[in-house]
Amino acid sequence: MDNLLTIGETARRSGVAPSALRFYEERGLITSLRAGSGHRRYPRAVLRRLAFIVFAQRLGLTLEEIGAELAKLPSDRVPTGRDWSRLSGQWAGRIDQRIAELQRLKSGLTSCIGCGCLSLEHCQLANPGDRAARIGPGPRLWVGRS
Ligand code: FES
Repeated sequence: MDNLLTIGETARRSGVAPSALRFYEERGLITSLRAGSGHRRYPRAVLRRLAFIVFAQRLGLTLEEIGAELAKLPSDRVPTGRDWSRLSGQWAGRIDQRIAELQRLKSGLTSCIGCGCLSLEHCQLANPGDRAARIGPGPRLWVGRS
């Protein structure tokens, strides 16, 4: 148990609140062992896993998507740097999408925030290049495709 971290130590080292650690554990994203007292103990490798989870969430991945990514890691050994970079290597496209979206938001900041019409006919922020016409009515690019 010497090489294991308490939940408090894990929270301090990762910057992730204990409540979030318990939540991630309930969702199967991280695992802990139980000390004789019944308290959680995390292997040190959990810190890298937490860094991955936090970064992936910032990129907009859902917890389900993050769980699916983490499931690709080897379960019979501590993942290597190569294992981790294989996962994050697929994120470049997603980051590019976020950058493009933020640039679109920036360009509409002054004109569109004051306007608010989100017109599919006139607003390049709501409907750049008239892409939304192919999806359906409403501010499709903002509310998703459900
Ligand atoms: S919100 Fe009216 S033009 Fe963009």
